[in-house]
Amino acid sequence: MMKTHTCGELREKDAGTSVALAGWVNRRRDQGGLIFIDLRDRWGITQVVVDLEAAPAAHAIADSARNEFVLQVRGKVRIRPQGTANPDLATGDIDIVADEILILNRSRTPPFYINKEEGHVDEALRMRHRYLDLRREPMQANILLRHKTVKFIRDFLDAEDFVEIETPILFKTTPEGARDFLVPSRLQPGSFYALPQSPQQLKQLLMVGGFERYFQIARCFRDEDLRGDRQPEFTQLDLEMSFVEREDVMRLMEALAIAIVKQLTPQKRLIAEPFRRIRYQDALESYGSDRPDIRFDLRAVDISSIAGRSAFPVFVENVSSGKKVKCMRVPGVAGALSGTQLRKVAKDLENMARGAGAKGLAYITIPVDPEGELRGPIGKFFNVELKLELIEAMGAQGGDLLLFMSDQDEIVYAVTDALRNHFKADLDLDDDLLAFCWVIDFPEFIRDQENDRWDPSQHMFTMPLPEDLHLLDSDPGAARGSQYDLVCNGYEVGGGSIRIHDRAIQEKIFPLIGQTMEHAMAEFGHMLEAFEYGAPPHGGMAWGIDRLVMLLAGAPNIREVIAFPKTQGGTDIMANAPSTAEAEQLGELHIQLDLPEPEAAL
Ligand code: AMO
Ligand code: AMP
Repeated sequence: MMKTHTCGELREKDAGTSVALAGWVNRRRDQGGLIFIDLRDRWGITQVVVDLEAAPAAHAIADSARNEFVLQVRGKVRIRPQGTANPDLATGDIDIVADEILILNRSRTPPFYINKEEGHVDEALRMRHRYLDLRREPMQANILLRHKTVKFIRDFLDAEDFVEIETPILFKTTPEGARDFLVPSRLQPGSFYALPQSPQQLKQLLMVGGFERYFQIARCFRDEDLRGDRQPEFTQLDLEMSFVEREDVMRLMEALAIAIVKQLTPQKRLIAEPFRRIRYQDALESYGSDRPDIRFDLRAVDISSIAGRSAFPVFVENVSSGKKVKCMRVPGVAGALSGTQLRKVAKDLENMARGAGAKGLAYITIPVDPEGELRGPIGKFFNVELKLELIEAMGAQGGDLLLFMSDQDEIVYAVTDALRNHFKADLDLDDDLLAFCWVIDFPEFIRDQENDRWDPSQHMFTMPLPEDLHLLDSDPGAARGSQYDLVCNGYEVGGGSIRIHDRAIQEKIFPLIGQTMEHAMAEFGHMLEAFEYGAPPHGGMAWGIDRLVMLLAGAPNIREVIAFPKTQGGTDIMANAPSTAEAEQLGELHIQLDLPEPEAAL
């Protein structure tokens, strides 16, 4: 055995034991006759003391060792001399007096510090040497937390009688709103597999296959533009249940979320149990987003009935033509500002609103002194009674800034969302607060004006709410889906729905979303056929494991919780992927390249 103990486990009670440790040199201090080495492995750090007189050979080796060298150390555990214990280290009461040291491998000087945080390290550098980046303590903690999360989920679902089943990676299109990654088939020239955007169809077919409770820690692939919470390949907890209604799935999933947090990150606080449920439309109206961060309550309030009676022509005209006027109260920000400062703040906010498509962003400030004047360009359009009504409706207090938005709904939502995100940065929100909520009652479809068709708001297999099923024929835009999204701190952590299990209903969806029956049969004929052989009612959900772990870890993006993530450009700069293929490989696949001119390539 190269190591009898880990670098994190020895304590006072082990004093006198002969041990062998192995790991990396985290730090080395040379005090002439004594060399101190902090030896690090996955479990912690143990201090090794090498005495020139007692162990001259070991001392010579310690002398030549550098940070990140890989050493094996044999020696005896000793209680540290009085006054030299290190309370910051779990093993800080002891050290190892080395008899023998072996260099197992050397290391070049790493391109960034492994043993301490040095502020911002260039992300490209971290990615190029990801194997070194992974040695850093925060990355070790994140990856370990990820392991524990997945293990916990597996145990939880196993106890609930779920079966873990693998589904193929080489399959055909499973539309979830992104582009497919295609894999050319050598054996079927001219044909392509599509990598699954999710196991959606297969899990439904597993329900037809009689498993009743399925889950999988499933790799999914989506060719879409990347963001901090999106990767081209990512991991879902994918799950499906038969003989359930929306409530059954939501209840179990909520219990899982609560158990995960309590078990794995007990230092975190859940904002409310049971989780708040917000209707999609209400989420948009209040927060401008269907994944609201409800850790803070800035919200847009409809004040059309007040603004419509003001003398501000824009509001009067908009309200009479059916548009809303909405107001957001930002507590306390205006009180301390001078006139010039206020105008500057308002100008910046207005520019932000314009960036989101608005024509302007009117504002009023509430004076701290009750006798004072309302400030802001539209104050003059509100008479005293209207001002009082407004203050009452908004619950406004001295020093508040009131912001007004009036436009088409989509623009008002975008401005609301942008303003909330802007003010959020100033609020110093607590990352240890996990504000889960459910968003429900999504529309079944969203209008695609450009292509004159409906797009599924979730995916084409979502069952409309039972009471809205009849609307598929008469008014599909008004039908609500059975979809439920699990949102936390402004991220969509997961989503699911009750599915269509009836061929006749599924067939109604295709023409609405602009697919001919021929195309539908070619792509999804197997689903339609399966529904004819006793498909049980079923529903399920998928969670983004990367996003969940990111939130649990308090990490700023999902790359921090994925061992080998892609860069924003979808590349792996360590191994240089994607890369070109040999002509011979392309030939076998019957593929000819038709590349854009280099300058036109992205
Ligand atoms: P959906 O498309 O909402 O639903 O995906 C489920 C969850 O997966 C995560 N996710 C991602 N994480 C990282 N990178 C990405 N590119 C990415 N895309 C999605 C999100 C999301 O909530 N089949 C349905 C689920 C179902 O109906 O059961 C589906 O895939 O956290
Ligand atoms: P104006 O009379 O055009 O100078 O506008 C007076 C104030 O109203 C300015 O602060 C504008 O930003 C704001 N404003 C103009 N149009 C709108 C609108 N549609 N919604 C909200 N505020 C607006």
